[in-house]
Amino acid sequence: MDTVEINGLKFKKLLTYDEIHNRISEMAEPLKRELNGKDPLFICMLNGAAIFAADMMRALDTPAPLAFVKWKSYRGTGSTGEIIEELPLDYDVRGRNIVILEDIVDTGVTMYNFIEHVKKLGASSIKIVCLLCKPESIKYPIKVDYTGFEIGKAFVVGHGFDVDGCGRGLRDIYQLV
Ligand code: IMP
Repeated sequence: MDTVEINGLKFKKLLTYDEIHNRISEMAEPLKRELNGKDPLFICMLNGAAIFAADMMRALDTPAPLAFVKWKSYRGTGSTGEIIEELPLDYDVRGRNIVILEDIVDTGVTMYNFIEHVKKLGASSIKIVCLLCKPESIKYPIKVDYTGFEIGKAFVVGHGFDVDGCGRGLRDIYQLV
């Protein structure tokens, strides 16, 4: 399927399932080496990163723990700039090497605030791993350690990305026309 229509919005294909999976396997190799012997704690930022986190954890083939949090800054196809914590972190991060699995860094407001929060809780180190990044949209000083693909400002759906809850189950990633 080259195009898809969701809630009256038209999207065209940006990345195929194979491209996404090859890139996740590629990212997993250096990450695995870097985390070797570090007893990492992975944190998945719900909802968007659920599918990426599942793919990445399997690519890493690791017994390390995976925690889930839900911080939200988006409504429809735009960032609100305001963070809502819907599911708090239920794990002691003191002294831990944290790896945050995020679907996309857009303005960076979600990641910036979450990193500050995890630092305050006493994590020893924090790495950010995201599937997509929109470099032209970033407004906050954050360093992403591993990025799957850099894309333009267009809104995307599929492979975990949604528009008002729809589209997460699409195998490929599509961008708004
Ligand atoms: P930020 O806080 O502005 O960086 O936005 C990050 C969050 O907004 C991500 O975790 C996504 O849930 C959501 N988001 C940003 N861009 C998109 C997009 O193009 N499609 C779907 N969700 C997006």
